[in-house]
Amino acid sequence: MKIAQLEEDLRHTYQKLTEEEREKLKGARIVLTGAAGFLGYYLTHFLYAYRRELEIQSVLCLDNYLLGMPEWLRDMEPVFRVRKFDVVSDEIADIPEAAGADYVIHMASIASPTFYRKYPIQTVDANVWGLRRLLDYYRERELKGFLFFSSSEIYGDPDPASIPTPEDYRGSVSCTGPRACYDEAKRFGETLCALFAREYELPVGVVRPFNNYGPGIRLNDRRVPADFARSVAEGKDLVILSDGGPSRTFCHIADAAAGYLKALLYGRYDYFNIGIEGPEITVGELAQIYLEKGQELFGYEGKIRYEVSSDRQYLTDNPKRRCPNIDKARSKLGYDPDIRVEEGIGRFLAFIKESQEGELIW
Ligand SMILES: NC(=O)c1ccc[n+]([C@@H]2O[C@H](COP(=O)([O-])OP(=O)(O)OC[C@H]3O[C@@H](n4cnc5c(N)ncnc54)[C@H](O)[C@@H]3O)[C@@H](O)[C@H]2O)c1
Repeated sequence: MKIAQLEEDLRHTYQKLTEEEREKLKGARIVLTGAAGFLGYYLTHFLYAYRRELEIQSVLCLDNYLLGMPEWLRDMEPVFRVRKFDVVSDEIADIPEAAGADYVIHMASIASPTFYRKYPIQTVDANVWGLRRLLDYYRERELKGFLFFSSSEIYGDPDPASIPTPEDYRGSVSCTGPRACYDEAKRFGETLCALFAREYELPVGVVRPFNNYGPGIRLNDRRVPADFARSVAEGKDLVILSDGGPSRTFCHIADAAAGYLKALLYGRYDYFNIGIEGPEITVGELAQIYLEKGQELFGYEGKIRYEVSSDRQYLTDNPKRRCPNIDKARSKLGYDPDIRVEEGIGRFLAFIKESQEGELIW
């Protein structure tokens, strides 16, 4: 079954690519790691939907299914090749199609704080050893682009003077706290990328995503946009597990994905914040938007409640504010996000409603 809202989102992403960028994907052989996750969902659906227009030759989807194997990924076969693969312990050389890749997108790493704290060592490994093994394998090959997914979390809890945060802000990060497995692994991963670009002239792009939401995020993923979407879909109250004060800018995946593809196709080493500059809103304000959009789309009757999480570390080292400066991606990549959060949440809830009606699970 086709989901009209997803098609509209994918078209938005497609239209953000220039002719020159689309041209670079012609005949491309693409490898994605972490393909079963949220961003994997969106990027594989994008490549699947536009494979003919873009004349993509092949897509190899790799994931170790740490959080389960989704049904939608199985549906990509046999057009795309899907393999259970752990970037830390499996041999990429054992997969014949991997050798001829033009582009590699390394997303493998749990992104939800609740789950990366449950699997802290696996999280370090995917971002450090998994990345290192891929870089080693591809350093002597003719790659056109290698994209590493870092994170806005490399900035930690920024000094208020560095908000909006530019790429040259060096961060305020705990190296031993409950989030360190993620933040520090991403930081070291970025160091590896810089070194491999310098030593082997590997065309590595690094992206630092800032709070994406939209089609593909698992509703039981425990990230705030997913928690709220699930509550609306199930008709339950919106529960805020803080004082509602932390603020973020929320970037719809249809915008962010264009930024990721642009960074991949850029073809030389650089690192970019990918998110949206505004509005920076509190978690309380975000809940209010879900409430109103939920009422419009679902006839939602729930309310907003405040609770304390049973997870004692839930808020430890949680950044108070998160807002990117995206001037660099704008000027070098032509990245131009324009889905405001109210519109984006409406789109996301419309996607969930359609999926539910079609009994689609993702
Ligand atoms: N979504 C965001 O807003 C956001 C923000 C910052 C950074 N990122 C980064 O983007 C990437 C994708 O994020 P996401 O939201 O899709 O995450 P996700 O948690 O939804 O999915 C990650 C996927 O990686 C897989 N994985 C984990 N370890 C692996 C391993 N060793 N081998 C193979 N597969 C493995 C998991 O099974 C999962 O399917 C991650 O690197 C994440 O850190 C995302």
